Formats: sequence, C-alpha cells, structure tokens
Amino acid sequence: MSANIQAVRGMNDILPDEAAWWRHFEATVEAWLERYGYRNIRMPLVEHTQLFRRAIGEVTDIVEKEMYSWRDELNGEDLTLRPEGTASCVRAAIEHNLLYDGPKRLWYAGPMYRHERPQKGRYRQFYQIGAEALGLDHPHVDIEILVMLHGLFTRLGIKDLGLQINSLGDSACRGAYRDALKNYLQAKLPTLCADCRRRYETNPLRVLDCKVDADKFGDSPVMLDYLCGPCKIHFQTVEEGLKKLGVPFEVNPRLVRGLDYYTRTTFEFVMGHMGAQNTVAAGGRYDGLVKEIGGPATAGIGFALGVERAISLMDTTALQPPRPQLYIAALGEAAVDFVLPLIHGLRSSGIRVETDYTGASLKSQMKKADKSGAGHTLIVGEQELKDEKTVLRNMQTKEQVSISLSSLVEELKIKLVGNG
Ligand code: HAM
Repeated sequence: MSANIQAVRGMNDILPDEAAWWRHFEATVEAWLERYGYRNIRMPLVEHTQLFRRAIGEVTDIVEKEMYSWRDELNGEDLTLRPEGTASCVRAAIEHNLLYDGPKRLWYAGPMYRHERPQKGRYRQFYQIGAEALGLDHPHVDIEILVMLHGLFTRLGIKDLGLQINSLGDSACRGAYRDALKNYLQAKLPTLCADCRRRYETNPLRVLDCKVDADKFGDSPVMLDYLCGPCKIHFQTVEEGLKKLGVPFEVNPRLVRGLDYYTRTTFEFVMGHMGAQNTVAAGGRYDGLVKEIGGPATAGIGFALGVERAISLMDTTALQPPRPQLYIAALGEAAVDFVLPLIHGLRSSGIRVETDYTGASLKSQMKKADKSGAGHTLIVGEQELKDEKTVLRNMQTKEQVSISLSSLVEELKIKLVGNG
C-alpha cells in the first residue's frame, strides 16, 4: 500500500463543523464592514513579486524570508503567492482607477501565504479579512476604523482584547528618528545577529522587530519622541477621539510593525494569553503607499484580521450544525426509484432533504434519520406504494400521519415550510 498523502504543513483543512463557524464569523464581519461603507473587492492570489518588494519593503522578514515566489518560465515572470492583501488592494485600486470619483472604502477576504515556521496560531496558509480606506487622510478615519474593530469584537463575543496604538511618523520626521536609532544601535552592533547588523545599514527600523534580538531594545529611542508637528497633532486627535468614544487603548511606543509601508497611526488588537501569536488584528496608516506603487499621492489606512486567531477566541459551542427538514426512508428498490423525482421536487421547492438511496431496513434508516437531526421522516416502503400513501413521522413528538401519494409534494410543503 502506498503512503498517505497529507496536507502541506501549516496549511489546514477546515472541516464542516468548523466551516459552519467560519461562515457565521465571515457573515458577521462582512455585514459589520458594510455598515461602515466598505465594499467588497476580490484580488488574485498571485501577483508580480515586485509588487510586494516595493510595498512591504525589500528589507523585511516577509520579503526576505517568507514569500512563496517562483519564476514562471512560460511567461518569464517572477510571481508570488500573496503574503498579505494591502499591496494587492492598492494595486487594483490604481490599475482600475477606482479613486477617480473620490475616496473608497474596500474590504477583502481570503487566504494569505507566508513561509513561516508553523505553530499554534501561525500558519503558512492563513485567512485574513482586511479593509482599506483609500483617499482619506483625516484622523477621524483612524478613529472610525478602531471604533469599528472594537465594536466588531464585542459583537463577536471576543472579550479582553487590548488595543495598542503608536505613531510611526511620516517622511518629514522619520529621518531624524532613523539617525537617533542608528546612533543607539551602533554600540550594540557586535552583540546583534547577522540580520540585524545587515539591517542596521539598509533599514535600521526593521532591527527593532528582529525575532532573535527583539528583547535587547527595551531602551531604544521611540518614534513618538521625534514626531513632527502635523504628525503629533494627528496622533493626539486619534487619542482624544478614542477616549471620547469610549474605546480603551494603550499607547505602546515600541509597537513597530513588520511592514515598511506604515506612516503615522499603527495599531494592534492583542490577546494577553495567546503567547507569541497574540495579535488578532493589526494595521495602520500608509500615506505613501499608493504613490510608491505608481499611483497619485493618496492617503490610506487599513487593517487585517487573522481569521484563525479570531475564531479561536470565540465561544463556538452555541452554533448548531444545519439539519435537514426531512429524512426520506425509502425501503426497497421500488421505493428508492419512486423517491428520486419526489426528492427533486421537494428540493426545488426549497426543502432541505436527506436520504441515502440504500433501500435498507426501516430500523437502520430510522437510526440514520435520528442521527441526521431531521425534523420529520417520510417512510416509503413497498406496502405504502401499494396503498398509494406514505407515513410522515414527526421525529420529536413521534406522531405519525398518513399522506396520500397524489397530494404528497403539496402536503409536505405545507407541513415542512417554516417548520425547519
Ligand atoms: P500583519 O500584521 O502582517 O498585517 O497581519 C495581520 C494579521 O494577520 C495578524 O495580526 C494575524 O492575526 C494574522 N496573521 C499574520 N500572519 C499569520 C500567520 N502566519 N498565521 C496566522 N495568522 C497570521 C498585514 O497583513 C497588513 N496587510 C494589515 C494592514 C492592512 N495594514 C494596513 N492595511
């Protein structure tokens, strides 16, 4: 016997019971986003590698170590499975000139791919629901997004998430901070890993989120102390707005994000007890990204929610699996033949019907009917066909009624619709 082929490590099957929860979760999040004016956009899973290099940054963990990239020899193209959605969403907005008539709020959902070491809460294929507000630079948009997420988590019954915010400044103030950081890092260089020493030269901000050395930088200078006037006012407005609207938060001046495109407000919703993989949703402003990817200078802000992580925090015991309204126990070959058009007719009328076409004994089929959780079972055997009537059993009350074959579909519709 040949060896079993299993799923790729870090890429998970979502089995039906779990998938029911996913659908409930997705429907709740989508309705919530649409309430805030976000409209759905669907981008491809594969993009030109260059898009992510430019958007996320050459010297980041994602681009240097985590992307699934390959060369498509047929077309001579360098391609990558998307590690996140912001770059693709902004690319699509530019390519289709979506901002021609003003700002847009967009949301997307789907799998993302990062070649990380899999562990609980960290997968190689994981799902995000993300939202991007393009062309809106007012700090009230930052507040709106944070209020929206806070409300969403409450609605989903996810409690105890801490909101951490920070400002990463903009191109006007980043330079002075970068210099201060380089000064600070210089003395530490000999004790740092090879990646950090290299990044010190190419992208010193990324030294701060090094997975090896991160805890060595507890006393590093922080961007908040270097903000220029407009960035400072922007951040204060966000803080005040959150207070006014009753959204609890903490300023974390050491919140750096792993992607280079961020400017000004950045944030993470963090769960205390989830260990290293404790960020459930994260994002921020990226006022330079649209231009970086080739569009006109346009503000942007957004977030992505990790679906696996969010669902792991929900109480999933409450959701009932969907049940058929009717189980059909067809006993013997003649009955199995007879029920084929009947089932088709009932399903066409919107009734959820289950059956197994085995023609097995009444006892065994009643067991299956019980297991299916159906509200009613229709029993059709040879005797019933001869008598031109069938028996409908209410699975809860055990009450049985006889229904004539000539009016079967009509009677079942009356009895079962609205009785699911
Ligand atoms: P990110 O912080 O890289 O940001 O990812 C956002 C969320 O995706 C994380 O907080 C986490 O919940 C989930 N996540 C990330 N990597 C994994 C993984 N390997 N396994 C499971 N879950 C994971 C972004 O992706 C940005 N595009 C967010 C954004 C949108 N910023 C502005 N707009």
